[in-house]
Amino acid sequence: TILIVDFGSQVTQLIARRVREAGVYSEIAPFNNAEEAFNRLKPKGVILSGSPAGVPEEGSPRAPDVIFDSGLPILGICYGQQVMTHQLGGQVESGDSGEFGRAFIEISEECVLFDGLWKVGEKHQVWMSHGDKVTEFAPGFRIVATTDGAPFALIADDERRYYGTQFHPEVVHTPDGGKMIANFVRHVCGCAGDWTMAEFKEAKIKEIREQVGDGKVICGLSGGVDSAVAAVLIHEAIGEQLTCVFVDHGLMRQGEADQVVSLFKGHYNIPLVHLDVETLFLNGLKGETDPEKKRKFIGKTFIDVFEIEANKVGGADFLAQGTLYPDVIESVSFTGGPSVTIKSHHNVGGLPERMNMQLVEPLRELFKDEVRALGRELGLPEIFVGRHPFPGPGLAIRIPGEVTKERCDILRKADAIYLEEIRNAGLYDAIWQAFAVLLPVKTVGVMGDGRTYDNVCGLRAVTSTDGMTADVYPFDSSFLTRVATRIVNEVKGINRVVYDYTSKPPGTIEWE
Ligand code: XMP
Repeated sequence: TILIVDFGSQVTQLIARRVREAGVYSEIAPFNNAEEAFNRLKPKGVILSGSPAGVPEEGSPRAPDVIFDSGLPILGICYGQQVMTHQLGGQVESGDSGEFGRAFIEISEECVLFDGLWKVGEKHQVWMSHGDKVTEFAPGFRIVATTDGAPFALIADDERRYYGTQFHPEVVHTPDGGKMIANFVRHVCGCAGDWTMAEFKEAKIKEIREQVGDGKVICGLSGGVDSAVAAVLIHEAIGEQLTCVFVDHGLMRQGEADQVVSLFKGHYNIPLVHLDVETLFLNGLKGETDPEKKRKFIGKTFIDVFEIEANKVGGADFLAQGTLYPDVIESVSFTGGPSVTIKSHHNVGGLPERMNMQLVEPLRELFKDEVRALGRELGLPEIFVGRHPFPGPGLAIRIPGEVTKERCDILRKADAIYLEEIRNAGLYDAIWQAFAVLLPVKTVGVMGDGRTYDNVCGLRAVTSTDGMTADVYPFDSSFLTRVATRIVNEVKGINRVVYDYTSKPPGTIEWE
């Protein structure tokens, strides 16, 4: 186990993710609880995170002494490097100007963190984000790499096995950072690197049992991967204490609602309340064309329906959600700048307070691909686990303009053809999200000898790692021609197909 001491950086979870990728278990503890966590976990090494605070600031956080007294290896990242330097007798000062973004470090000496990676004299890209900097290292340290702005970009005390980086090895903009963290946890701390998702599952099950005790848990299923994985995991932990409620708003893709029902009732035998409330949603959406108002209506109605059902179940103490780490940081951008609401994502926010329930969020520290791995571990069928992300408001935000049953049906057919062709071409897993949209525009066409005047269908496919940025998937034109031909021939109501060539930014993935 590696203990990660969190000083409040927005990317602390990424450190945990890199450690997991190195096949090592880690736990994050806030700095003011780190001593307790240290004694409980008996880790083989400690990583100190970054922070929005500055070491020279009055009252800024410190690492507990027990960590330095233990004789265990320590890796300090950014603020972690500075706080370690300060606590061990070095000097940290507020800079007049910081370093933010891409930088190049030059390797000046050998270091165990560079094993199989970097050599003396080479230059490598790293990611910096700091205002303060170390101006005098603590006794015992030496400099192993520098940048123009940070003469102490990487310092090492091999005897005590203390390492400090001014840059952030945990972010993707430091391309070799993950391997560097792996070198620390394996070569310096001596962790075996054989930890797996199966162990994560066991640890979470234990945690859920401890949190819930003999309380009742209710879980809202959206039809997506995240809530399904959360529900199956919780069911494995507490069995019948869990009730799942599937709010079927009629805005799902073709066959999706049936899949959820058969997965839960058939495959897992998990009690499921299936609420078919399509009419309620479609009636409420009548005449509404504003994307945000559609989202708000769907979010609110989802909660209302869910709440009524939850009350019927009677006295649930906990609400389970499939919240992922990117949902937690969604509105906060690492590269700086105040964040604005681009789209109000729909979730069951507000419900726990309203109903006096506590949250159970077992996926909170995971990323999408890790949730999929956990789903596989829990035996969810591949077709379900590998599914592209699907937005909570469903097809409503893929039908710009007014949403009607008829338009939903048209879109479902086109979307199913598109996805079928993508699967047949073996491209499904290479794409982050692919879907059709139905535009509120009619255009003229000719079929046979007749004039047609019908809807336009847009096709979207993007690659991404987290949905925050995205590139357009470059299909062969023959593939797109085949899909367009099939859609126009097979779907009544569509006579023209276009492909969306916009990346994110400046576009968003969804059209609304
Ligand atoms: P955008 O369109 O903002 O989408 O680039 C980024 C990711 O978020 C999904 N998305 C949503 N998910 N409720 C959700 O639960 C929403 O209102 C919503 N809007 C977009 C989108 O599918 C993509 O994966």
